[in-house]
Amino acid sequence: MANTILVGAQWGDEGKGKIIDVLTEQAEVVVRTQGGNNAGHTVFIGKQKYVLHLIPSGILRKGKVCVIGNGVVVDPVSLVEEIRGLNKLGIRVDGNLMISETAHLVLPYHRELDEQREILKGKHKIGTTKRGIGPAYGDKAARVGLRMIDLMDAGRFEEKLQRRIKENNEVLKAFGAKPLQFKKVLQTYRAAGKELKPFVANTVVYLHEAMKRQKDILFEGAQGTFLDIDHGTYPFVTSSNTTAGGACTGSGVPPHRMDRVMGVMKAYTTRVGEGPLPTENSEIADLLHGMGREFGATTGRARRCGWFDAVATRHATMVNGLDDLAVTNVDGLDTLDVIRACVSYRVGQRTFDYVPNDVELLAQCEPVYVDFPGWKKSTSKARRWKDLPSAARGYLQGLAELTGARLKIVSVGPAREQTIIL
Ligand code: GDP
Ligand code: IMO
Ligand code: MG
Repeated sequence: MANTILVGAQWGDEGKGKIIDVLTEQAEVVVRTQGGNNAGHTVFIGKQKYVLHLIPSGILRKGKVCVIGNGVVVDPVSLVEEIRGLNKLGIRVDGNLMISETAHLVLPYHRELDEQREILKGKHKIGTTKRGIGPAYGDKAARVGLRMIDLMDAGRFEEKLQRRIKENNEVLKAFGAKPLQFKKVLQTYRAAGKELKPFVANTVVYLHEAMKRQKDILFEGAQGTFLDIDHGTYPFVTSSNTTAGGACTGSGVPPHRMDRVMGVMKAYTTRVGEGPLPTENSEIADLLHGMGREFGATTGRARRCGWFDAVATRHATMVNGLDDLAVTNVDGLDTLDVIRACVSYRVGQRTFDYVPNDVELLAQCEPVYVDFPGWKKSTSKARRWKDLPSAARGYLQGLAELTGARLKIVSVGPAREQTIIL
């Protein structure tokens, strides 16, 4: 399979977890390289549903090594909970998980600040997951973050934590929020640190050794291209590089060792949280929500829905260098007479065939659509390309052409076997 970077080509929740699970069959190592427990990756194995937040989705297959890379921000308490949750479901998490020593920690003041800043923003809020992701990456950039390596050293952790809590309590008080109790935080985090100790390692060295032994690595992206801190709809983004470059910086594997980039996208568009979504459409939202679909895996919020936006996915091909595409949730469109795809944006007399950087301008963009005929048949039992109705094949080929990458995988349901590989 070679080293593959998998990214979300839209606004997150494209079905990355499911596609990672399918691809992991051939990979030996799966690495998360950015984001934190803001991610929610859903995988179904049989009837059992698993939702992964920090642990790579590869953990569900035996014999694979999963790595939480240096670029991830780790909430140790929530990671311990996630490990326990998996254990309860019969998934072994021991020698098959590694956590980078240099991954930054998410601490309770990050979560508090995330919440307080959102409240202060009022109607201008971002709609974050309130997991403390922005403040944690902020501390990393400001060089006042604590890392896994600090958590592993009791004395050092206590000293650094005390200083950070002192400062952050002043800020929290200014917000009118409750200050944190140092002793309580110390205790909770130390306990989590103790449980995580066996997993903490120099993952950069490990990954390079794995490459020397010709092991195939899969880089599991979190969030999506338009939530990227540099390339997304700033400020309505997350705080990490969700695009392909993030896989290199977040793992220590250099660009020339990457063999291909796969983009995952839904056959339509969704977004959770605030910010522009040019193709947003209430009819398609009602249809999908009515089917019990498109509720967030992390926060349970109803996702905003719209038609497929090829201006956006073309942009995703550009900034990620997408070679291959996986299109998911094709079955969500099974009942429609006509299916629309946005091919450009219009604002007054101006037409855009790329995503404008000015988020206020993007919010004014009116989509220009091309219409595809619907197939009006269930696709969920299709297992080969030729099993799909010809209108569905036409639509998928159209999406790949508009996006400018090769169609490689089509997903027609949440289960492993509901997958067509081209
Ligand atoms: P991720 O964050 O990119 O991993 O995506 P999420 O797990 O947050 O959201 C994707 C949702 O779509 C999950 O509920 C998946 O089980 C579901 N899913 C993925 N592919 C398909 C598909 O082809 N059809 C259907 N019906 N559901 C799918
Ligand atoms: P996966 O990996 C969809 C969104 C939030 C909010 C913005 C910033 O499951 O695709 P944050 O908490 O990161 O500061 O929130 O980003 N967001 C996601 N949306 N899928 C995700 O992850 C997301 N992670 C963050 O809703 O709009
Ligand atoms: Mg998700």
